[in-house]
Amino acid sequence: MKNEQIISIPNLCDARAKLTENKITYSNIVINEETKKANKGRKYLVKTYGCQANVRDGEMIGGLLEAANFRKTENIKEADIVIINTCAVRENAEDKVFGEIGNLKSLKCKNKKKIFALCGCMALEPHIVDKVKETFPHINLIFGTHEIPYFLSYVEELFNSDVSRIISVKSQAGEIVENLPSIRQDEFKAFVNIMYGCNKFCSYCIVPYTRGRERSRLAKDILQECRQLVDSGYQEITLLGQNVNAYGKDLKDGTSFALLLEEVAKMDIPRLRFVTSHPWDFSDELIDTIAKYPNIMKSIHLPLQSGNDDVLKKMGRRYSAREYLDLVAKMRNKMPSIALSTDIIVGFPNETEEQFEDTLKIVDLVKYDFAFTFIYSPRPGTPAANLKDDVSKKEKHTRFKELVKKLEISILESSQKMIGNIYPVLVEGRSKNNPEMYSGYTESSKLVHFKAIPSDIGKIIKVKIVKAQTYSLQGEVVDG
Ligand code: 5AD
Ligand code: SF4
Repeated sequence: MKNEQIISIPNLCDARAKLTENKITYSNIVINEETKKANKGRKYLVKTYGCQANVRDGEMIGGLLEAANFRKTENIKEADIVIINTCAVRENAEDKVFGEIGNLKSLKCKNKKKIFALCGCMALEPHIVDKVKETFPHINLIFGTHEIPYFLSYVEELFNSDVSRIISVKSQAGEIVENLPSIRQDEFKAFVNIMYGCNKFCSYCIVPYTRGRERSRLAKDILQECRQLVDSGYQEITLLGQNVNAYGKDLKDGTSFALLLEEVAKMDIPRLRFVTSHPWDFSDELIDTIAKYPNIMKSIHLPLQSGNDDVLKKMGRRYSAREYLDLVAKMRNKMPSIALSTDIIVGFPNETEEQFEDTLKIVDLVKYDFAFTFIYSPRPGTPAANLKDDVSKKEKHTRFKELVKKLEISILESSQKMIGNIYPVLVEGRSKNNPEMYSGYTESSKLVHFKAIPSDIGKIIKVKIVKAQTYSLQGEVVDG
C-alpha cells in the first residue's frame, strides 16, 4: 500500500515474554491549540465489542479524542473518525467485526477523508493484521491495547499528512499510564481497572497474548479513582481485571486483592462488585472480606469452564471439579444467599460425552444464578488450537443446547425463589422495549423491570418481585 507506515506488528512470542518491571507513569495530556483548532467540528464514533475491559478502553479512547476537541456522534455517516474496538476471544466475535469493517467501505467511497481505525484485542493477532492489510485498504489505523495512551499522535498524522495507513501494535505490554482522560458510558455505574493482562495462559485463551502479562495499578491510584467516583455520586463500582485475585502479586509489596477490596468497601460506595475471579487463587481472606462488608455485592462470577478433571487439566485451569465445589461450599457456608454465575466452554478438543456430562453434573450441583456458555473456538497461536479434535460441530451444538437447557432451569428456579420478596434495585433507566417501564439490577445481578418515575433513575429503590422469567424479573416499587 502507498504511504503505509508500519511502526510495529504483533508477535505472539513477545506477548509471552516475562516482564522485567511494572513501570507506571502519570500522564499530563496537553493538546496544543493548533491541533484543537484543526479538530474543531470533527466528530468521532467508538464502537466497542466484547468485555468490560474493552468498554473501559473505549471510555479512555473517547476521553482522549474529546481532549483533542473531537465531539461524539452516534451517526457513523457524520463521524470523521470511526474506531472499532474489537474482541478476539472467539471466532464469531471476529466475524462480526469483519462484517462491520466490510460495511464501512461504502462510507469511505463517499468521503475519502474519513479515518477508520481498528483497535482492541483483534489488533494483537498477527493473522488478523495480515488479513486487514490485504483485504481492507480502507482501514487507516491499527493500534493495539498497549498503544491507547499514544494513538492520538497517529490520528493527527493521518489527518495532516499524506500517510494513508499506520500500524502500531506492540505485543509486549508497556507501562501503565495513569490519569488518562475518559468519558464514562454510565452516570451511576463505573468500571475501575485494578490490573491489566493475565499470566494464567489457559490453553484455549487468547487474552494473555492480546492484553499482555499481569500488571497491577498501585492501590493509591485505584483508591483515588474510586474516591472521585464516590464524590461525584456514583452508586456502583466494578473493579476489573482478567483475574482480580492475582491483583498485587507483581507489586511485591504485600498488597492483595482482599486488602484492596476492603479499602474500597470502606469508602461509602453503595455497591461494590468485581470481575473476574479465577477459582484457583480465590483466597479465604477474600471470602471473609466479601462476607464482612454489606456494600460488597453477594454476587460472584466464578468461571467453571468444564466439570471434568481431564478437560480442566488440558485447559490448564489448575483446579479439579472437587476443588471448585469445595470453594463454592466455602462461599455458601459463609454467605448462604450468595449468587453465583459462571462461564462454561462446550466442545473443547476431544471432549467425550462422559466428560461433558461431568459438566452437567456440576451445573446440577451448583445451581447457578446466571451463566455465559460458549462453544470452543480455536484461537490461532494458543496451545489448544494445535490439538486434533474428533468432536463434530453437530455434536458440539447438541451439547451446547443441552447445557443451556439445564442452566436455564436453575436460572429460572433461582429467579422464582425471589417472587414475593423485596430487593434493593439500582434504577438504570427506561426499559429498552417499553418506555413506560424502568429497569435495573438486584444485588444478585438479576435484571428487573418495574414502573417508576424519571427521578428514580440512578437511585437504589426497593422493588417487590411479582413475576419471574428466565432472564428477567418483573417487580413493583415499594415505598420507603
Ligand atoms: N473458545 C470458547 N470460549 C472461550 N472463552 C475464552 N476463550 C475461548 C475460546 N477459545 C470463554 C471462557 C472465558 C470467557 C470470557 O470466554 O469461558 O471465561
Ligand atoms: Fe483467559 Fe484463563 Fe486468563 Fe481468564 S484466566 S483471561 S480464561 S487465560
